Amino acid sequence: MNTAQPKLLDWQDGQPVSTLYDDVYFSRDSGIAETRHVFLCSNRLQERWMSLARDRFTIAETGFGTGLNFLCAWQLWRETAPAHARLHFVSTEKFPLAHDDLQRALAMWPELAEFSRMLTARYHRIVPGWQQLVFDGGRVTLTLLIGDARATLPQLKAGVDAWFLDGFSPAKNPELWQPEIFHEIARLASPGCTFATFTSAGLVRRGLQAAGFAVEKTQGYGSKREMLRGEFSTSPDLGTPTKKHAVIIGGGIAGASSAHALAVRGWQVTLIERHAALAQEASGNPQGVLYPRLSGHDIPLSRIALGGFLHTLRLAEMLLEKGRDWDNCGLLQQAFNAREARRCAEVAARALPEYLVCAVTAAEAGELTGLEMPHGGLWFPDGAWLHPPALCDALANHPAIRKKFSCEPLALEKKCDGWQVCDHNGIVAVAPVVIICTANDSLRFAPHLPLEPVRGQITQIPATETSRRLKAVVCTEGYISPAREGSHCVGASFSPDDADLALRPQDHARNLAMLRALSPALHDGLGGKELDPSRLNGRVSLRCASPDYLPMAGPLLDATLLAERYEIGSRKSPSDLPWLEGLHVNIAHGSKGMLTAPLCAEFIAAMLENEPLPMDATLARALDPNRFLLRERGLRRLVGARVGTQP
Ligand SMILES: Cc1cc2nc3c(=O)[nH]c(=O)nc-3n(C[C@H](O)[C@H](O)[C@H](O)COP(=O)(O)OP(=O)(O)OC[C@H]3O[C@@H](n4cnc5c(N)ncnc54)[C@H](O)[C@@H]3O)c2cc1C
Ligand SMILES: C[S@@+](CC[C@H](N)C(=O)[O-])C[C@H]1O[C@@H](n2cnc3c(N)ncnc32)[C@H](O)[C@@H]1O
Repeated sequence: MNTAQPKLLDWQDGQPVSTLYDDVYFSRDSGIAETRHVFLCSNRLQERWMSLARDRFTIAETGFGTGLNFLCAWQLWRETAPAHARLHFVSTEKFPLAHDDLQRALAMWPELAEFSRMLTARYHRIVPGWQQLVFDGGRVTLTLLIGDARATLPQLKAGVDAWFLDGFSPAKNPELWQPEIFHEIARLASPGCTFATFTSAGLVRRGLQAAGFAVEKTQGYGSKREMLRGEFSTSPDLGTPTKKHAVIIGGGIAGASSAHALAVRGWQVTLIERHAALAQEASGNPQGVLYPRLSGHDIPLSRIALGGFLHTLRLAEMLLEKGRDWDNCGLLQQAFNAREARRCAEVAARALPEYLVCAVTAAEAGELTGLEMPHGGLWFPDGAWLHPPALCDALANHPAIRKKFSCEPLALEKKCDGWQVCDHNGIVAVAPVVIICTANDSLRFAPHLPLEPVRGQITQIPATETSRRLKAVVCTEGYISPAREGSHCVGASFSPDDADLALRPQDHARNLAMLRALSPALHDGLGGKELDPSRLNGRVSLRCASPDYLPMAGPLLDATLLAERYEIGSRKSPSDLPWLEGLHVNIAHGSKGMLTAPLCAEFIAAMLENEPLPMDATLARALDPNRFLLRERGLRRLVGARVGTQP
């Protein structure tokens, strides 16, 4: 079991006070009036938002605390910003408050009740790393960077328009007022970026000046005589394509989520699929499981599994009908051999919050899943199954997404007005941005990508009285989930470099053997030896895998031009990389597409919009689809160049 969270708050005269820093979260006079004076007015937000020429605005904050500043900013945004514009609020927090404490603190402000309710409804599973919570149908996005700001801010990629510097007082919380933090604040500043803070401490004033801000002292709030505000002079503007039209090719989970991520940002999207409906290939299984395979170490594979798990859960909560199309019924990862037992122990030792994951014994596993289990392992209380076609349909069900079925683009050509997308009859669409979401078939458009098809067969078994006792998803090398529409989905075979789509009795037999090892009681309860592999129903499709098992997400380089300009081993330092401007991929989701594809879709959309990225920069760079090509040419240091060169 995990360690308990330290007690963060004391309530003194109804006010939250930090036990760790011995300081107040906001002014004892009136927190809400202080927020409005110090952060909203001093950053001139009302005035800037009433005349906002762009369609987005980004605030970043040091110290999320109770979320009061966020709620006040959100309220003002609703009242003053143009209806089509989107607010991004990024906030760092090393010690996230427990749900009950946050709720109690926010209950102090009846005028914010509607906003507090919406925040507390989403403020769950706040675990270390990047988390995005979306409100008002996408009009407001909160990105929480959970961890020490000194570690998270260098990993942030964003163009910030206003900073709220709201650590505890510099004397009590010096690490949030260091030159390294001021450096990050300046690095992330967009042209015209402002900042405001309640303190007027000399070290803060000098630190911000040294980082490039023009700083002035102004009237403080309440008992504080003075505070600081200021403006940043210059910073590169990464720009956004002006014509917001994209073509997405491929109607699986990657295509549907890419279309959704752009449509909610105000783009017009054409989603092209060669079949007559969405989710006919790998994304077409009756049940997929949300199985975050974490590692004992905080490596990119583990981080995308965790970030993707939390992101898809939030999507499912918003878009799907629980019980029918999905269920976060809990998930057991069995420690079924020595290697897995070691991994489970290492994950448990990471002391992640137990509402995310905890170690369980075989007896506890039996209790939690409803049937006797031969092994314990890791228990994910929110682990889930979902019906992938329902998620694809829900994601693509947006008025800005035009679906074009039974259309199979074969080639792409760059012209001055954008990318021409052509099938065998000619041009089917033109757009400045194209996202290729065609899994293994992406080789048609980018033949150099190292993609491998991995055949997978699931077995469908009618539910029985015994099997209906199964209350949770159980995973070993394969998985089974509680029945959907009277049938269990048992998966899946794994045959690399095999693209045959015919059902095979021997693969059913393999799935049944896996099920027997997973739970003899369940296997026997489903019919045991009576189950005839040659008569079982199932489904075959192909995963699409990359050599390092990470997805490929982001803009593509021109492989031919790169090879011409930079011979292997050449010492020439690239001045500019030959980008295929506007051409992106969201592919290679292997066995985890339900977890990884929607998060990758958000990542690409955020890059296109120059918004705060929904993941740390190290992970974002690890997804670079050009990583294999660049390494091959000795240009490893340029992997992730579009994300930024900060470590
Ligand atoms: C047996 C099996 C079990 C799995 N179980 C799970 C699970 O439990 N949990 C999980 O997270 N993941 C699971 N996966 C993995 C997951 O299903 C995939 O990672 C995911 O579906 C990939 O989505 P995609 O959109 O990239 O590809 P696909 O779903 O294959 O979509 C690609 C789409 O592109 C279309 N297309 C291709 N070329 C063209 C073209 N030229 N023009 C137009 N359209 C085109 C195809 O028709 C297809 O619809 C499983 C995979 C398999 C095979
Ligand atoms: C004054 S409170 C913030 C109040 C908050 N803005 C609000 O609206 O309620 C300061 C916050 O900074 C957080 N903090 C302190 N040191 C930090 C660090 N190194 N990294 C990230 N957050 C930190 C604290 O946990 C605390 O929640």
